[in-house]
Amino acid sequence: MKAKKTLTRRGFVAAVASAIAAGLAAASLWPVWEFLSPPKTREGQEQETAVVPLSNVGPGKAHFFEFQGHPSVVLQPSPGKFIALSAVCTHLGCIVEWRPREEIFFCPCHAGRFSPEGKVLGGPPPRPLPSYPVKVRKDQLIIG
Ligand code: FES
Repeated sequence: MKAKKTLTRRGFVAAVASAIAAGLAAASLWPVWEFLSPPKTREGQEQETAVVPLSNVGPGKAHFFEFQGHPSVVLQPSPGKFIALSAVCTHLGCIVEWRPREEIFFCPCHAGRFSPEGKVLGGPPPRPLPSYPVKVRKDQLIIG
């Protein structure tokens, strides 16, 4: 004998309410997920070098740019010294920000801290920020 399972009105309403709640939860979490996710790389954006005008990177200043499809940053920590790094945190891939008063790169996602050279100073990042070679050519920085 087969037992026939019937859906009661109460069961149907509960199922619909659960589906709506799940949809609303997913819709409200999507912007948070997008914010925390690293930017997607675009195909065809691979480049061997990046060129940044020297005037964009004053002493103590950082300039963010895209290099090989990834957020990157070049910094002049002291006059005439330039450091180029990936701006993607090595913990979960958020984008670091430059804090000139503290002279650190700070990851806003989980408070990771990096030195101007990209070394881990604190927080959860497991590795330093990858670095790129930088050359000064006339009034430009050639990175990569
Ligand atoms: S993603 Fe940077 S500290 Fe977690």
